[in-house]
Amino acid sequence: MHESVLLTESIEYLNLNSKSIIVDCTLGYAGHSSCILRQIKHGFLYAFDQDKEAIKEADKKLKTIGSNYEIINTNFVNLKKELTKRVDKVDGILFDLGVSSPQLDQANRGFSFHKDAPLDMRMDQSQKLTAYKVVNDYSKETLIKILKEYGEEKYATRIVEGIIKARQNKNIETTLQLAEIIKQSVPEKYRRQTHPARKTFQAIRIEVNDELNVFKKALKDALDLIKVGGRVCVITFHSLEDRICKQVFNEVSLVPKELQNLPVIPDEYKPKYKVIANIKPTNKEIEKNNRSRSARLRVIERSL
Ligand SMILES: C[S@@+](CC[C@H](N)C(=O)[O-])C[C@H]1O[C@@H](n2cnc3c(N)ncnc32)[C@H](O)[C@@H]1O
Repeated sequence: MHESVLLTESIEYLNLNSKSIIVDCTLGYAGHSSCILRQIKHGFLYAFDQDKEAIKEADKKLKTIGSNYEIINTNFVNLKKELTKRVDKVDGILFDLGVSSPQLDQANRGFSFHKDAPLDMRMDQSQKLTAYKVVNDYSKETLIKILKEYGEEKYATRIVEGIIKARQNKNIETTLQLAEIIKQSVPEKYRRQTHPARKTFQAIRIEVNDELNVFKKALKDALDLIKVGGRVCVITFHSLEDRICKQVFNEVSLVPKELQNLPVIPDEYKPKYKVIANIKPTNKEIEKNNRSRSARLRVIERSL
């Protein structure tokens, strides 16, 4: 089952009341959405996910709580397009990024380097690009760039050389084959630290789902979609996502450097948003749920 991360904190920061109109961009197994729906008896919840299996389970759960919700089965890159068809502005928007535990645990989804499965890694199973295509068809240069940028993998070149050599004989078919190639490509001492395939798998997953570009666009759109007094809460799980969130929040909440010393900031340069929180899970949560160890919650509020 999926154990929601930073659940109490994110719900608290959404500042719900019974009439709130809320968007959960990452419905998953409805951990957050269930809590939200319980508190907005006369409001409405719009929930996005691109994973049909997650949606089926989440819908069953939400039905037992209320009917004032709509699940929108699409990538949250379409947030603005879909929401503006339905509503003007909303009170709160939540992102709980990444994959859910069931997605990781279901071997056939190909996200895990611990379980053998075809190389897939698609969150949206109807999309064309899979991890198989990335691993077997991408050029050496592109693969190295992806491992460096999306995995921050210091042995990117050696790992990609291992992949290129292996695929000259026969295409790489499964997650465990890929994990073994990675293991054989890195120095012995690196194998003893965290799993040597972790960063490469992260990089390939980000490429397959175009995660960083999609998040950046959706986050900027989310800022436009909230009312004055409304909040956007973002839970990230690695430094690349967190960096994007921090940059986007800084852009809209800080006075431009060259104006910071003015005695009065002209109205048009006054920031429209205020950062409210930047927190990590407690030690107690990390002990209970290891997946939360790298999580971070950032919250911003629209003030003008
Ligand atoms: C970490 S889980 C969310 C868990 C949820 N908050 C809960 O407590 O049950 C992330 C979910 O977001 C979905 N997701 C990730 N990126 C997405 C995107 N770009 N568009 C739509 N759904 C996405 C995944 O399919 C997954 O179900």
